[in-house]
Amino acid sequence: MRSIAQSVLALLVALLIADSNASLPRRGSSNQSQNRTMSAGKAFKVLVTHPEVPQEGIDLLKENCEIIQVQSVPTNRAELLEKIRGVDGVLWGGHEPLNAEALDAAGPQLKSISTMSAGIDYVDVPEVKRRKIPLGHTPTVLNTAVADLAVGLLIAASRRFHEGRKTIDNDKWENYHLNWLLGQDIRDATVGFYGFGGIGQAIAKRLGGFDIDKVLYTTRRRVHKEIEEEFNAKKVDFDTLLAESDFIVIASPLTKDTQGVFNATAFNKMKQTAVLINIARGKIVNQDDLYEALKSKRIFSAGLDVTDPEPLSPKDKLLTLDNAVVLPHIGSATKRTRADMSTIAAHNVLRGLAGEPMLSPAY
Ligand code: DGY
Repeated sequence: MRSIAQSVLALLVALLIADSNASLPRRGSSNQSQNRTMSAGKAFKVLVTHPEVPQEGIDLLKENCEIIQVQSVPTNRAELLEKIRGVDGVLWGGHEPLNAEALDAAGPQLKSISTMSAGIDYVDVPEVKRRKIPLGHTPTVLNTAVADLAVGLLIAASRRFHEGRKTIDNDKWENYHLNWLLGQDIRDATVGFYGFGGIGQAIAKRLGGFDIDKVLYTTRRRVHKEIEEEFNAKKVDFDTLLAESDFIVIASPLTKDTQGVFNATAFNKMKQTAVLINIARGKIVNQDDLYEALKSKRIFSAGLDVTDPEPLSPKDKLLTLDNAVVLPHIGSATKRTRADMSTIAAHNVLRGLAGEPMLSPAY
């Protein structure tokens, strides 16, 4: 069953997409402003900054826009800066810095940008704002994929998947011990969320099927009462979240306020049996302190889809730990999610070009 919030959100996105389709400038239309924008054949020039952006979004843009596409992988910055010159819109696929350098290279005619991501920590948002360029991103559509992965990590970290696999590799299969590789129960657990937006709530919904006891969350603003009731959730301060949670899931954006908040002081306030999950951004955690907390068994284990830096070096000390499950930032990596992200990003760009509010504005 969908939560009320998710149903409303899905309906909203569907309506917005329908509305967006209706409002976009189209070929052959008699509307005056549309004639103006269509006068040169294709209405606008749009740069797609990555050759692997799914076709769904590109097909939408193609209806009215001339597409220019960066071909290099990984992105060659010089190619990007060359191709961005003179474009009206940009679909920013990938996590290349979107900053004054790129905006200067584009020129003052740039009217619309959308990333293909939920997190926009690689965007200099104040700079985009200062230039009054509408900026979109793609939250919501990746909630389910990220939430599925978070539950996977939570089980893997609490039930010692990584450590267990290593015992096989190292010929240390010792199941003659009765208490071998015992993990933490999810049943009856208190699950604490640092950040409790769409992704956090999608994770809480899934964990309902695991008979957890309750949800605690730390956010700036309290979520709606109905959402609290649906998940048996209670807003608490950070110290309470740390002290009372059996599992802590980091699901907040990276900002100057959240950077490094999970440090030695925080780990020392957590239960020794606690499991930490991070599907948000690596820099929210002080990784050296996490290493120490895991190594010394100050906390039980961690499941990380995000690290600092990314990519993580294969020689990173975190990878030597039995009790750290580490993935290469694949939270949103499903075929359908990527396609949806490109569709939403394309609609954002088109709506920005048409002077309309974006489906998911980033500011
Ligand atoms: C996002 O979109 O922010 C996800 O973390 C994937 O980058």
